[in-house]
Amino acid sequence: PENMLFSYKGILYPAVISSPETLEALKSFETRSDDVILAGYPKTGTNWLGQIIGELESTDAKYTEEEMKERINAEKKLKTFTRLEFGDPGIYERMKKLPSRRIIITHLPPHLLPPSILQSKAKILVLIRNPKDTAVSYYHFYNNMPVLPSFSSWDEYFPAFMNGKLAWGSYIDHLLEWNKYIDHERIMMISYEELKEDQVLGMKRIAAFFEFSLCEEDFPRIAEKTTFQAMKENSKETHGSFGDILFRKGVVGNWKDLFSKAQNEEMDQKFEDCLGGTKLAAKMKYDIYCK
Ligand code: A3P
Repeated sequence: PENMLFSYKGILYPAVISSPETLEALKSFETRSDDVILAGYPKTGTNWLGQIIGELESTDAKYTEEEMKERINAEKKLKTFTRLEFGDPGIYERMKKLPSRRIIITHLPPHLLPPSILQSKAKILVLIRNPKDTAVSYYHFYNNMPVLPSFSSWDEYFPAFMNGKLAWGSYIDHLLEWNKYIDHERIMMISYEELKEDQVLGMKRIAAFFEFSLCEEDFPRIAEKTTFQAMKENSKETHGSFGDILFRKGVVGNWKDLFSKAQNEEMDQKFEDCLGGTKLAAKMKYDIYCK
């Protein structure tokens, strides 16, 4: 289990899906001004949002069936392309051949992104989720994914989450870094919880941000296709044997099953100390979803 993760500049990553060489090569990634970028810490709902953005983008672009096939084939040829920091170091050369608009998903916070992303005109959608549900989701993921080490119990896991001793580091630090960019004109923040509450409204905000133009009736149709149930049912096709691990519960408030009173207080205190009073905390509605 020790070598399942490697450390790069003080942050852990899974060795099966990335490497120090890939993270080194990432600096050479060339952003296009029309790249559509989705950034979210693991387990904030990145597969869900990725699917939604894909549907919105392709509806706006009105690809023919032939064009759609070509796009899918181009990605297949890349073999490992799913996330910006995943794969072998050659991925960035191969990504240059992908047709526009590329949809790029990353778990990295802004200070670890290649500089060309923040310097370009590309827009970034930042996905956040309340830290308690994120912690619980990541716990189950760690214990179910063969490529990640397991924890013997929630109590053993909890301090690792709080201290950032997990792949992609500390979630609180990740949020602090994004909070610095909250007013940036090319960044929009959206929460898992607001999407759960009104998916059509959330999708309309996303489409407006990326300047995708869709018809009114496209939104409920896409919402239907991307419910938790629909994506879970389709997951054998989209994610193979990892489908059941990725589409676990898909609800808000599951943290109440695992957090002890003391752990709850510890998280509340840490969140207040690090993010209390920030715009990001208001956006997250911590007091509604974590109390
Ligand atoms: P849970 O473990 O709480 O169920 P990521 O895609 O970033 O790994 O995030 C995974 C989380 O998103 C999981 O949370 C998963 O169930 C949830 N999820 C996946 N698809 C979803 C959907 N269509 N609607 C709501 N939640 C979804």
